[in-house]
Amino acid sequence: MHEGAQSYPDRPRHHHFGVRVEHRAEIDAAWEYLTAHRDEYGLRQIDPQVVRHGSYSIHLQEPGTNFWEIECYEDVLRKDSGEERLGGVRSRHWDHADEDAPASARGYTPLAFTHGTLGATDADAYGHFVEAVLGLEAHRAYAAVRYIKHPATKHFVVALQVPEPQSFSPNFRFTIGLESAQAVEDAHAELAARRSEVGLTDLGSLEADGAGASFILRDVNGNWWELAA
Ligand SMILES: [Fe+2]
Repeated sequence: MHEGAQSYPDRPRHHHFGVRVEHRAEIDAAWEYLTAHRDEYGLRQIDPQVVRHGSYSIHLQEPGTNFWEIECYEDVLRKDSGEERLGGVRSRHWDHADEDAPASARGYTPLAFTHGTLGATDADAYGHFVEAVLGLEAHRAYAAVRYIKHPATKHFVVALQVPEPQSFSPNFRFTIGLESAQAVEDAHAELAARRSEVGLTDLGSLEADGAGASFILRDVNGNWWELAA
């Protein structure tokens, strides 16, 4: 995902991907397992358990330099309002955990890919951009944090306020699915006409092959998005 060998001093906090387990004990098991197998998997870094934004988590950096979070919201879900806030991102992202399934030899079983992250210099302005231009929800998790998501799905992108935007390759992007190739074409035409008004720093050409269509754009914070169908 991260191209090249540049260093990103803000990681892992600002750029990582998250998977979720059901039980808190799995986080401890994951830390023990990954620490024991660190050389085998070429892990560059394994941060110990931390409680942050309601999640009990560990963070690790794999050989490709990407950071991952293994998270658990078991504690939050014991509270009545834990599931409902912030568009439901903390509720289970799976229909049911199969408690009778054989236990993983690793001691932990991620059940969902839950989130990615990006940076924005102004959380309020970025939330407005996300809603007005990308057509997604921007939930105010904290003053400097927005959870970006579609109302019908649970996975989300965390926008964290950062002092300086990062410069990533277009390969590091999030893709939004539209209902049809025509909708993608219409969106491209509209954004081409309103490019400076909505603050795009780059707008790729429309790629259409008869079956599908897509294009990429770069927002004012340097983040790449793809709209596709
Ligand atoms: Fe995270």
